[in-house]
Amino acid sequence: MANVVVVGAQWGDEGKGKIVDWLSERADVIARFQGGHNAGHTLVVGGEVYKLHALPSGVVRRGKLSVIGNGVVLDPWHLAREIASIREQGVEITPETLMIAENTPLILPFHGELDRAREEQNSVAKIGTTGRGIGPAYEDKVGRRVIRVSDLSDDRTLEVRVDRALVHHNALRAGLGLEPVDRDALIADLRAIAPEILQYAAPVWKVLNEKRRAGRRILFEGAQGALLDIDFGTYPYVTSSNVIAGQAATGTGIGPSAIDFVLGIVKAYTTRVGEGPFPTELDDADGQRLGERGHEFGTTTGRKRRCGWFDACLVRQSCAISGVTGIALTKLDVLDGFETLKICTGYELDGERMDHLPTAADSQARCTPIYEEMPGWSQSTEGARSWADLPAEAIKYVRRVEELIECPVALLSTSPERDDTILVTDPFAD
Ligand code: IMP
Repeated sequence: MANVVVVGAQWGDEGKGKIVDWLSERADVIARFQGGHNAGHTLVVGGEVYKLHALPSGVVRRGKLSVIGNGVVLDPWHLAREIASIREQGVEITPETLMIAENTPLILPFHGELDRAREEQNSVAKIGTTGRGIGPAYEDKVGRRVIRVSDLSDDRTLEVRVDRALVHHNALRAGLGLEPVDRDALIADLRAIAPEILQYAAPVWKVLNEKRRAGRRILFEGAQGALLDIDFGTYPYVTSSNVIAGQAATGTGIGPSAIDFVLGIVKAYTTRVGEGPFPTELDDADGQRLGERGHEFGTTTGRKRRCGWFDACLVRQSCAISGVTGIALTKLDVLDGFETLKICTGYELDGERMDHLPTAADSQARCTPIYEEMPGWSQSTEGARSWADLPAEAIKYVRRVEELIECPVALLSTSPERDDTILVTDPFAD
């Protein structure tokens, strides 16, 4: 029985939500393994639009188990609001359909405040984060002072954990000119939210291993994209977690041998939100057009996304690092009507040709893309459901992408509607 990991292969916003939803129909369990409510997944099911941030995309489907793994950082108040709003859309969420790993770290209000204070403080430290407290929560996890879901079940433990975190945070806050945290109010708020969260708490590693043994199909739902990975991304302009496929194992407690297929989600052009290098970024009318046609505004922050040509060099790198078996190519229709398309095949740096993005931030910023040009197509590819519906130039573009990234296309998505998808290889096939 196949278990599939879905990861973004660019800077996030590749259209993972639709693909995960499409695959979740065939999965029994859908598990998030990193990130938090910095993610924004839009699902369109039967004309109804669902906007998810912390909840796994499986929640909108009946009879599926959705799992939040230990690799995630969870804001309990946000989760409660998100559950309430999804319930208002008629979706049932119960402890039978949603499980949260007991060892999941919590994002607390002071994490968000610290995130935003740092971003506002000066331009040197600015990353362009979502301001949701993701980075500070992961720092506390590694710093061994974070509060985890299981800590909510015992009043005394909770107090000890809060005190441990505040020794660090109040010192930091003083340096930033912020008031100390009101300890008693925080403990009271945590006690008040505890029952809501604890009803979903479970030993997720055990449940997933049992499901696996019982032959159930597990879909691991990644957030963000490989270039935002804390180790392999455009550091320091990255998110604070590992987002690549290997994290599906450590972020849920299932061994890497459980992963049978890694599906990389790749947009037919490139976008990025926030600061940081972006070799193929376009500041001209073409970039404007990609943004408008692709509706490139952040689901979480509403920020305008930076847009540019397809960077095959970056995607080749991402596919290698995540061990991608096949890609889902999304938003091909946004390229409809361009007379000429450009694909970046490598970079020039100090007179030398590079076939990968260098690690040093200043070298990344100085890389200039080497392009090859391809003819565009005038017909619409929107809503195509078979290769026969695509113009010859569009097929050539897709084939060239496959060659350059050294990875085959498994799925082709041609509109936000779930059924507007061309299936080449079924990731869940045995
Ligand atoms: P953080 O994850 O809020 O710390 O933000 C760090 C960087 O990751 C910023 O450049 C964000 O714009 C980016 N980022 C975080 N989540 C997403 C996402 O879901 N899509 C795209 N970019 C994201």
